[in-house]
This record gives sequence, C-alpha cells and structure tokens, in this order.
Amino acid sequence: MGFIADSLNRIKPSQTIAISMKARDLKAQGRDVIALSAGEPDFDTPKNIKEAAIAAILRGETKYTAVDGIIELKKAVAAKFKRENGLDYEPAQITVGTGGKQVLFNALVATINPGDEVIVPAPYWVSYPDIVMLAGGTPVFVPTTLETNFKLSAEVLERAITQRTKWLIFNSPSNPSGAAYTRAELKALTEVLVKHRHVWVLTDDMYEHLVYDDFRFVTPAQIEPRLYERTLTMNGVSKAYCMTGWRIGYGAGPQSLIKAMQKLQSQSTSNPSSISQWAAVEALNGPQDFITANNKVFKERRDLVVSMLNQSKGISCPTPEGAFYVYPSCEGLIGKTAPSGQRITSDEDFASELLDCEGVAVVHGAAFGMEPHFRISYATATEALEDACQRIQRFCANLR
Ligand SMILES: Cc1ncc(COP(=O)(O)O)c(C=O)c1O
Repeated sequence: MGFIADSLNRIKPSQTIAISMKARDLKAQGRDVIALSAGEPDFDTPKNIKEAAIAAILRGETKYTAVDGIIELKKAVAAKFKRENGLDYEPAQITVGTGGKQVLFNALVATINPGDEVIVPAPYWVSYPDIVMLAGGTPVFVPTTLETNFKLSAEVLERAITQRTKWLIFNSPSNPSGAAYTRAELKALTEVLVKHRHVWVLTDDMYEHLVYDDFRFVTPAQIEPRLYERTLTMNGVSKAYCMTGWRIGYGAGPQSLIKAMQKLQSQSTSNPSSISQWAAVEALNGPQDFITANNKVFKERRDLVVSMLNQSKGISCPTPEGAFYVYPSCEGLIGKTAPSGQRITSDEDFASELLDCEGVAVVHGAAFGMEPHFRISYATATEALEDACQRIQRFCANLR
C-alpha cells in the first residue's frame, strides 16, 4: 500500500452503507429493488424542527459555535436527561458532536491506549469494533444467543472482564437485534460492573424512544448511581426525531472525559452545524407527541414482519422489544440450493442470492458478528415491507 496509513488496514468500510449503496445502484439500473438495509426512519423530520432551523438561518446563526455545542443545546440535553432519565448533568458534563457516531469516536479515541480491551457484545452495531481498532484497542467480542434474545448475562460479562478492560459498550435497544434490557436484566449487569472499578461504561442509547408494548427503557447510570462517575451516556436526535441527515448526537459523563473529547473535536471537525444544533434544541424542547404516533406505525410493522418471516420456510425470528430492526436466523436454509444453482453456505450467500433473485436488500449477520442471521430494517413503507416479506417467503420456498 505504501502511502496509506497502516491503521487503515485494521478497519473495513461500513458494510451496511455498502449494501445500501449496492441496492441504490441496482435501482438506478432499473431493477425493482426493495432496500431493507438502511438504519433510518422513512418519516420526514417534523415541521416545527425544520422551521426552527430556517429561523436560525434567518437570524444569522450561521457562524462557528463553541466546539462541542451551544449552551442552549447543552441546557436542552441536560433537561432531557433530568426529565426522561432522572439523571443530573451540568452543561460542562455534556458534549455535542456530528452525530452519535462522532461522540462514540471521540470517546474511544480520547481514552484508548494500545493493548486496551473494549467489551463488545455480539451482535453489535458495525462501527464499534472498527473505531476501537482504529484507536489502537482490541475489541473483545462476547457472543449472545437467540435463546437469550441476544442479551448478555451477568456471568458471561464477568468472564469477559480482564485487567486490560477499559470499556463495556452497551447498546439497548440494540442495532441490529432490537433487543432491549429490562430494569432487572440491566441491574444484573451493573452489579458486575460495580465490582470492577477500572471498567467504564459507554452506553449507546440512540434507540431509547423506540420501544413497544409498554416496555420501559432504562440506562445504566440511572439504575446504578455508583456507575455515574464512569459512564458516558450517549444519545442523539437521529432516530427518534427522524433527523439522520442533520448529524447531531450528544453524550454526558465526567467532566474530565468530556474535556478530553472536546480537545479532540477542536482539532478535527470543530462544532457540529450551527443550524442543526438549533434544530436539535427544538427537537428536545418542543412537542414530543409525534414519537408516540411514529411508534404505533413501527410496532405494526414489527409485528407484520415478525409474523411473515416466521411463516417463511427455514427462518426463525424472535420479537424484539425496540429499535426498528429484526434479526432472524436463517440457519434452516444453510446447505440448500437456489434455483440459480447457487448453494447457500452462509448468511452472506443468503443475502446476496436474495438480492439477485428477488431484489430484496438485507444485511448479512456476519457484518454484525453473529451468524447465520440477517438484519431487516422495518423503517420502510408498510406496503413495501409486505411485498418484501412475500418475496422472502417465495425465495425460501424455492430453495431445495
Ligand atoms: C446503535 C447506533 N449507534 C449510533 C448510531 C449513529 O447515529 P448517528 O447517525 O447520530 O451518528 C447508529 C446509527 O445507525 C446506531 O444504530
């Protein structure tokens, strides 16, 4: 390679983005493709949020801002943590970045030394291991099972902790499985973490608001105050507020960590878009009722997809508590042959053949560290989802 840094050889491009791009290319070539690969709501950003952005532009809020966020947004974030999670944070304990992804990136790059371990329960969001490796750390994958609904148990967590463990990355509701931890399930994990005082918790609460069937969301620092001093609580407006393109995420934690993250951001991107920050102030402080309305649609879609997938030969799909993903197993199809003559030897073959034969784009489980599974995002128009699930049923029925 020569010119390109060695550190880049440790990481790979995001496979979810790669598959979405392939689906887009096929569509552009005129193929009838339904993409269930992207992790973003199909709903538009609410009007009051857009108007707040337009007003900010017209007011001239178009200059550099404080590196890690305007005070108005930090105050809105502090109020959100108090109101929704019962957590007290001062503005100086809060950082705002260009999406939740930058907050995670800053936290890991600002803290990891060579040899540090980061526990990553699998299946995991694609970016966690790569950011850890880019930072020079070692991701320690801890598998979960379909039987435990993809949740980590206290015993398994205890066994994964070593003297070199720096962080546990915790994500509930999860991308890709949709699994969310109840208070009791999370309490069992925090009991373990309390004993290991050198381990910090990076909790990715991005899907907090997207939970169904009266499920009650909880976050580690809320249920275990003894972890407050070593927890970074990360969240953002991308998913619940339908603002993926605006690029605003935030985190709260000990001031020393927040300061280190700010230092890093000051030498990389500086502030997130001033306009998006004002839009996020309105998102957090404004009416929240559209979230309930959107969730009603998401829940109907989840139930539709789970039911139709479980009627597909060889597929088994648990019902997740939250997010907008399902993570079915395709184990029953491994070893079968498609009408094209292609043998299905892995979830990657399954996803690739499904796209070629039926024009349905899903993401293979290997990308998230747990095979043989695949991820479907049901943040797509209901009719398209129904059509896609019928195609999956036909595809599975035609395998021999
Ligand atoms: C679990 C999880 N965390 C973080 C992010 C990043 O969010 P953002 O778009 O705000 O960077 C995503 C987006 O897909 C996600 O699924």
